[in-house]
Parts: sequence; structure tokens; C-alpha cells
Amino acid sequence: MEEFLVHVKRGLSQNPKKLSSRYFYDTQGDALYQQIMQLKEYYLPACEMQIIKSRSSEIARRIAAIHPHLQVIELGAGDGSKTRYMMYHFHPFFDQLEYIAMDISANVLEINRKEILEQTPELNYQNVAGNYFETYPKLKRGDAGRLVLFLGANIGNYLKQDAIDFFDFIKSGLQINDYLLVAFDLVKHPRKILKAYDDSKGATKAFNLNLLERINRELGGNFKLDDFDHFPFYNPQNGITTSNIISLKEQEVKLSDGSVFHFDAYEAIHTEVSKKFFRQDIEDIASKSNYLMDETYYDEKKEYAFVLFKHEAQKNIIANPSANVFQSLP
Ligand SMILES: C[S@@+](CC[C@H](N)C(=O)[O-])C[C@H]1O[C@@H](n2cnc3c(N)ncnc32)[C@H](O)[C@@H]1O
Repeated sequence: MEEFLVHVKRGLSQNPKKLSSRYFYDTQGDALYQQIMQLKEYYLPACEMQIIKSRSSEIARRIAAIHPHLQVIELGAGDGSKTRYMMYHFHPFFDQLEYIAMDISANVLEINRKEILEQTPELNYQNVAGNYFETYPKLKRGDAGRLVLFLGANIGNYLKQDAIDFFDFIKSGLQINDYLLVAFDLVKHPRKILKAYDDSKGATKAFNLNLLERINRELGGNFKLDDFDHFPFYNPQNGITTSNIISLKEQEVKLSDGSVFHFDAYEAIHTEVSKKFFRQDIEDIASKSNYLMDETYYDEKKEYAFVLFKHEAQKNIIANPSANVFQSLP
């Protein structure tokens, strides 16, 4: 609450105004995101599910050859509706398999627990609520190998240097021969991308505007939602989608602590970036953070990729040529 207040006051006082996507996910935001995941236009979960269902056993076999005991840590795990299938396929390959779901939303982790244990009741399951920048470094490990999962194309929320820093942060909890599996949404037709963030049912609009509702609920704000709109924008030159909330008129908004924020007509609040990856982007992140790109798994249209990175002692290895993420891209 205190952290949210500080963030909102700082973000709405700067020019251009900015709020972090981290705060999308309260109970209402979790429910809205689950609706978005059902939308046909929001193609990402279907691509991800296709890879999980068709390739999880192969991924597990590759990792189990090195680590018969495995600790899987999922950052920003969400409701577990996709990972449940991954853990189901993983389970037979390991002598011991532990799964730790980490998310800032305690609410979504309860859904996650039900989903994952319903599919694989014998799994050694844990979850940890909180900001993963604080909770991940405190995790204990025994003699098991580690696999960190960062799925849902969440890496797209970080621009290049931030993504490299994030890979470094993950590596701080890895040992040599541990793995990181990241889902990347690849560049594709710009109209398809734009529709995913501007759906016809208005679910992405409701999801974005929930940030203002959350400020009203938790910080005593007086945002009138009809005076704001949602405006996503995709730039095919750099593969970056940005989500913005637009003030439809000149207005002032107050919080219960007395702070006041002025909005010009058509002024934007930036809320999120969703980067779509070119081949060079992934290569750069891997080489600058010193991971080996061990293997790549695509959906059938090659519009989405899971890249398995390995923490190796050598420096600046991109890939063995057959594993290169880009070999078979058009
Ligand atoms: C876009 S959702 C994806 C969820 C899931 N990985 C999936 O693919 O369905 C992002 C999730 O990350 C969580 N999250 C975002 N920032 C976080 C942070 N700093 N610490 C912990 N969880 C975070 C959110 O609460 C949300 O559940």
C-alpha cells in the first residue's frame, strides 16, 4: 500500500506520466487477465500451450540427463493454467521434482496451487508470494539442479538493457549447468500484434483502466473512468508495443492523502511495454549476459519461441549452430 502510493505519486508527477505494469495484478486485475487469456485475438497463450503440450517431454529429457533432481522456479507464475501441463509432462523424467511458483499476487497463487496439484498431485509444490526481486534471492536449494521459468512472454515487459540486467539477476541464483527457459513472442504481422492489445470485447481496455480503479479503491483516488481511454501502439521498426491510458479532457485527479495531479486533454499515462523479438534481440541478450542458447522450441507458425538457456562457464557463447533460435526463421 505504502509502496503503491509512493509509486503512483512519483509516476503521475513526471512528464510523460508513467505507472508500472506490476500494479495491474490485484484480485480484479488477475480476473481480467484470465479473461484476456481466453480471447482469440490474444494469441499468446495458445502459442505457448502448443509448445508446452508438444515439447515439454523433450525439454524434460534434456534437463534430466544432467539433473535427475530438479527444482523448478517460476517467476511471475500467474494462475498455472499452462504450467500445469508442463509439470505433468516433466514429472516422470525426474527422481525428485520440486516446483516453486513465485508471484506478487497471493490471490493468483492460490489458483496456481489448485491448478498444478489437480493435474499432478504427487508434485512437491511450494509457492512464495511477493516481489520476485526480493523473494528469488532468498530461495534455498539442496543438491538439486535448477530450472527457472519465465513464461507468458513476460520478458517483453523489459527493454534491451533491462532484459540483460534481468538475465543477470536470474543468473545470481543459478550454478553452472543450471537452466533458464524463457518464452519470447517473436515479430509477426503488425496488425495481429496490435489486435492482441486492442481486442474487440474491450478486455484489454478494462485491464488497463483497472489500474485507475485500483488507485480509487486503495488510495482514495477520484478517477472517473469514462474520462479516460486505452490506447495501444505498435512500432514495427523496433518491435515494441506500448500501452497508454489517455485523459480525454483537461482535468485534475486527487488522492485521499491530498495530492492532486493535473492532466492536459489527451495527455497519456504510459503503463506497459510488450516487446516482440527480432533474432538479433535474443542473440544480444544471451551473449551480453553470458548464457548458452542451448535449444529452441517453436510453435507451428514460428511466431513464438521457448529458448532454453544454460549457465555455462564459457563466455559469449551464442549457440551450437543447430540450436540457434533463428536458424529456421524466415
Ligand atoms: C502477464 S502475467 C503472466 C502469468 C503467467 N506467467 C502466464 O504466462 O500466464 C504476469 C504475472 O507476473 C506477476 N508479476 C509481475 N511483476 C512481478 C514481480 N515484480 N514480482 C512477482 N510477480 C510479478 C503478476 O502478478 C502476474 O501474475
